[in-house]
Amino acid sequence: MRGIFITFEGCDGSGKSTQIRRVSSALRERGVDVLTTREPGGTPFGELVRSLLLDPNGPERTPLAEMLMYSAARAEIVARVIAPALREGKLVLSERFYDSTTVYQGYAGGIPIPDIETINRISTVGLTPDLTFVLDLKDPQVFHARLGPKKKDKIESRDEEYHRRVREGYRDLAKRYPERIHVVDASLTEDEVFGAVMSVILGFMDKAQKR
Ligand code: TMP
Repeated sequence: MRGIFITFEGCDGSGKSTQIRRVSSALRERGVDVLTTREPGGTPFGELVRSLLLDPNGPERTPLAEMLMYSAARAEIVARVIAPALREGKLVLSERFYDSTTVYQGYAGGIPIPDIETINRISTVGLTPDLTFVLDLKDPQVFHARLGPKKKDKIESRDEEYHRRVREGYRDLAKRYPERIHVVDASLTEDEVFGAVMSVILGFMDKAQKR
């Protein structure tokens, strides 16, 4: 039986890592075999791409070059980590997946969405998440406060307009794929966000078992 693939999306500082940590430990306590991954990264090649793309002093590049690099890292993690885990029946929780490329390089970076969707299909060999949570932060002040004094990476340092388009992109995707994408208000407390996310996941698992 194929496992379950769940992705977490949202702007930087929206609380994705915290929620993945909490969800993975709650599911493990219920006996679920969970694997967590993040993008870009999760393989030696992907981690190199990550440091190249996010280094604040790293080279400038066109949105197209950037899109292809993120996609190359994704091809690697899908082939070596995510697809094998799903074949073994695991539940995979990924911090970011192809919706990040659609939103950051497409909606915000200007690459036509149909082109990105084609590359997404190629890099993932057609793998689609079963569920996606977008942790939505309305107020950019919250995002800046959460990032704190740490030095911003290459993408975080882009202007407010770029990040506004990222947020709008996610909201638009959620409208296009309402079955898969669930928007959760990330300004709620950590417990409230966790409660909302868990109830969707448990509902999905319940339905999947009855199938
Ligand atoms: P993060 O791990 O801190 O979220 O950093 C990853 C950064 O890379 C984040 O700013 C979003 C960006 N990103 C893209 O622009 N496109 C992508 O396809 C992915 C996976 C991430």
